[in-house]
Amino acid sequence: MNILMTNILDLAAGLGLYDLWAKHHLQGIHRMLIELADIGDGGQVLDVGCGTGIFASLLTETSKNIGVFGIDTGRRMIRISQRRARKNGHTISYTVGSATELPYAEGQFDVVFSCMVFHLLDPPEQESALKEICRVLKPGGKYVAAEFEEYPAGFLGRRTLRYPVSLTKKCGFHIDSEIRGPFVTKRRPTTYRVLVKPEIYG
Ligand SMILES: C[S@@+](CC[C@H](N)C(=O)[O-])C[C@H]1O[C@@H](n2cnc3c(N)ncnc32)[C@H](O)[C@@H]1O
Repeated sequence: MNILMTNILDLAAGLGLYDLWAKHHLQGIHRMLIELADIGDGGQVLDVGCGTGIFASLLTETSKNIGVFGIDTGRRMIRISQRRARKNGHTISYTVGSATELPYAEGQFDVVFSCMVFHLLDPPEQESALKEICRVLKPGGKYVAAEFEEYPAGFLGRRTLRYPVSLTKKCGFHIDSEIRGPFVTKRRPTTYRVLVKPEIYG
């Protein structure tokens, strides 16, 4: 995990800076994710790397009768998410934890989301996270992601991290759709993917 970047994000969240940035830059991305997921009424939904809970709150407001869960490694992120849920009267279950080791049962969720998280994970962690997302999804469930295609990492950005699309097949996913959409910065394209866990898995 890019610990430095993750700690900076967590600190920025504690200072209220992350929310200022996210509300401005991620609103279109969050709306697009909800549109692509086409959730309907009911079901269990997980946001992996939920940050300060802006997206999970939007999910609660836009979909009826769904159970919403969020997980993030940032303690401050989760504290702010819980505060936001209390303030808005939302019932959302938040946990401090990692995408690489999800504390949920196999087949628990109908839909899992990730938004701008995979560029913070090293390749072995990306693989573990994808396997975990697949494990916690119901057969036929959807993984809906908005992720940078490429992101500079390592010392002075000399390494490039890519969203591990080739691994998604290895992890058992079938790609339902793959499109470009709203982005955070023009220099780094964001790809939206709807990946489906096969009905017969394993
Ligand atoms: C750019 S923020 C995006 C937050 C959120 N998805 C949103 O749309 O506002 C990336 C988030 O991923 C979290 N993160 C990084 N590594 C993680 C991991 N291994 N497991 C879960 N969350 C992680 C960070 O703490 C941070 O909150």
